[in-house]
Amino acid sequence: MPKVLISRHLGADAMALIAENTFQIVIWPEDRTADRAWLLENASGCQGILVTLNDKVDEELLSKAGPSLKAVSTMSVGYEHVRIQELASRSIKLGYTPDVLTDAVADVAIMLALMAARNAAYGLSIVQSGGWPNVGWAPFGFCGPQLGPGPTTKSFTAGFLGFGRISQATLRRLIPFGVTHAVYTDSGRGRRTEDEDTAFVEQYAAFGQLKQLKWVSLDELAAESDVVFLLAPGGESTRHIISTPFLQKMKKTAILVNPGRGTLVDSDALADALDKGWLYAAGLDVIEGEPNVTTEHPLVKSPRATVLPHIGSATTETRAAMADLAARNLVAGVLGEPLPVEYMMH
Ligand code: GLV
Ligand code: GLV
Repeated sequence: MPKVLISRHLGADAMALIAENTFQIVIWPEDRTADRAWLLENASGCQGILVTLNDKVDEELLSKAGPSLKAVSTMSVGYEHVRIQELASRSIKLGYTPDVLTDAVADVAIMLALMAARNAAYGLSIVQSGGWPNVGWAPFGFCGPQLGPGPTTKSFTAGFLGFGRISQATLRRLIPFGVTHAVYTDSGRGRRTEDEDTAFVEQYAAFGQLKQLKWVSLDELAAESDVVFLLAPGGESTRHIISTPFLQKMKKTAILVNPGRGTLVDSDALADALDKGWLYAAGLDVIEGEPNVTTEHPLVKSPRATVLPHIGSATTETRAAMADLAARNLVAGVLGEPLPVEYMMH
């Protein structure tokens, strides 16, 4: 009977889907991230492993599992926690959960951009601490930059590090805000053509004022954008791509939004840049070193940073769809069938 290792209970429906098979199911019994030692102890001889982004899938875990392992399934679109090359060299398949979370994450990207620009967290803290009667309504109270051209300017540029599905969904949401230009840069994975960019603009022209979508360099992204969304994969090749040189080139009124991966940003450099006023504010759903982010963290302490605890995909519907897909990827992998959604390594 094939053994499967599951690092977290993913809800009754997903678990039932796995239990329909004659598998030996070994599941971490607690409702918190599995202890690493427990995973290593229980991996031996398994044919499938199901993880969340909290679990490192590395050489050590794969060696413990041994040659029986056919597939790893992660309940995430990101795969920074998975050593892709180690899987590839062992011909182990990787299942992941893109698409089903695109809209939920794009929603949070917009929420963070608005929260950061409009000082929403600060406003909430004033209300909750009983301070509203003191501050009242002031002509310039709580003011921040408008997300969009506003009444006095003609253009507004949205920038994207990475222009995959989530970035595209975020841009679609921004079109009714009046975005006129969109710029992006990416790692070259599936590089877009100018024709595709023109087609995107034409497709959505009727819903707003988007005139142009184009690839730019990282420096141009920093200099031209009024809001920058970080939606590139994490990992060594993108680590701290957003650091002092980038932040220094940003507009003073710009907003930086990170719904992607914490490692993209040098946290100390960002806290320093916010402090110096190189950009206006940051909205972060992820931070390097999460979840060990305390009130002592420079970005939590920064009055210009809005920090949320990695809730991008956290709608009931989306998480259920992710759990379902993760379960189906696991089952297919163990049965030697094509995975419903396989990460293609190259
Ligand atoms: C969330 O961050 C994911 O990768 O699914
Ligand atoms: C990226 O933005 C993705 O959905 O892969």
